[in-house]
Amino acid sequence: MDGGVELTKYRMWIGGEWVEAASGEHFPSDNPFLGKPWALIPKGGAEDADRAVRAAHRALTSGPWPKMTASQRGALLRRLADLIGPEATRLAQIEVRDNGKLYAEMSAQTAYMAQWYYYFGGLADKIEGSVIPIDKPDTFNYTRHEPIGVVVAIIPWNSPLLLTAWKLAPALAAGCTVVLKPSEYTSASLLEFVRLIEQAGFPPGVVNVVTGFGADVGMPLVEHPLTAKVAFTGSDRTGQLIYQHAAKGLKRVSMELGGKSPNIVFDDAELDNAVKGVISGIFAATGQTCIAGSRLLVQRSIHDQFVEKLVAFAKTARMGDPMSLETQVGPVTNPPQFRKILDYIDIARNEGATAALGGARATRPECGQGWFVEPTIFTGVKNSMRIAQEEVFGPVLSVIPFEDDDEAIAIGNDVVFGLAAGVWTQSMRRAFRMSERLQAGTVWVNTYRAVSYLSPFGGYKRSGIGRESGQEMIQEYLQTKSVWISLATEVPNPFVIR
Ligand code: NAI
Ligand code: MG
Repeated sequence: MDGGVELTKYRMWIGGEWVEAASGEHFPSDNPFLGKPWALIPKGGAEDADRAVRAAHRALTSGPWPKMTASQRGALLRRLADLIGPEATRLAQIEVRDNGKLYAEMSAQTAYMAQWYYYFGGLADKIEGSVIPIDKPDTFNYTRHEPIGVVVAIIPWNSPLLLTAWKLAPALAAGCTVVLKPSEYTSASLLEFVRLIEQAGFPPGVVNVVTGFGADVGMPLVEHPLTAKVAFTGSDRTGQLIYQHAAKGLKRVSMELGGKSPNIVFDDAELDNAVKGVISGIFAATGQTCIAGSRLLVQRSIHDQFVEKLVAFAKTARMGDPMSLETQVGPVTNPPQFRKILDYIDIARNEGATAALGGARATRPECGQGWFVEPTIFTGVKNSMRIAQEEVFGPVLSVIPFEDDDEAIAIGNDVVFGLAAGVWTQSMRRAFRMSERLQAGTVWVNTYRAVSYLSPFGGYKRSGIGRESGQEMIQEYLQTKSVWISLATEVPNPFVIR
């Protein structure tokens, strides 16, 4: 109870049943716009993690799932995709209530995520092994691509259901079973979403959801001996920790971590488009995206003119209730993130950067008690400063001038991350050359923040391991078996390798 208002109480989904945490405890999940709790989430621990991984392992090795043909698995995925459309609005409303991102964005995301289930549903029965023209006489050799096993998918709070789809759809298409662990800040939408999985007819235990905090329940999932693979999206630091612990069991990992992506504007760019691209890179989603274009590299000859245009545009951004379609910048998702952003604003100032816009908590009346930060643009930033090197994950842009193409590349690549980059130019030659030389898993030219189920997404350098989306990435959930069948009538000399 909270001031007489009943909070929505959720349960976890393990082995096809709605269950409480073994501890019987719950923790509150906040509404970032109101700055207060709205739901109660089960506080899972090691015992729940064990229960969920065992349920997933049982479903992997017995019952209907391993007997299903790939076509049948694909049909289930497509049925799930069909169920998403009518529920997309409701799911988006829950996401907005829980993470404060704009309804305009989240409703588009929840509708679009169905495409991952259609796409990987279609791909499920197109994973073919090969017959090898083997060099041994009287021998038949072929390969099979088999599911890697139980997958633990750990999800962050910024786009819970979309980032779930990026992992869940290929894992199921590959024949794996899955334990999902949503962020402690945004567990509700996934707990609602699994109802659709149940409705689609996936056998019990194929998909499980355990909730709780990273150290309590996330790490036991990673370390569980029956876990074969960990698919993670989140912070650089947690990603490294999970990688270390997964290594002890020689588990496979795929990791999508943060970034410090450069958005590079040349003097030959269409400047009004570039302004919009830079805005979408850093102020959309309140900057809480891994692909945020948090460093604006702008050619010195147009620096002052471009910053002036950018500030003028950013000033008009409407803040307030994320459910309103008028709102352009919503609140920050949680108090630690809110404090982190304000800390980085202080760090930037102390390093000698100048706030050309914003640089404080937003106290506009339409922001109420929510966790809002003013869209912030720092000029006078050197690439060696912490504000240019470290991920803020908020609406804070660092502007860094450059002279020519070589310097743009040198500065652009001079960070530990390599998730994405933007290039704004009208020169085709420059567009190709920059795309080749930028150390980033995604390069956008004259656009920013485009993603698709068809196109691989992931990080260079410390931004990650592996890719999500696109055909090839299904291999992240498969392992290859080589089968040898002798047709010889007699086993030859047993003391000699063949
Ligand atoms: P986090 O990386 O700690 O959390 C992501 C997920 O990992 C959550 O589900 C969390 O419960 C889980 N987790 C945390 N510690 C764990 C552990 N020891 N073992 C297993 N699972 C664990 O990120 P957090 O604290 O929510 O945000 C911190 C920073 O991470 C942000 O300021 C931002 O810079 C970055 N971030 C990056 C995201 C991305 O899309 N790349 C998404 C969210 C945050
Ligand atoms: Mg919340």
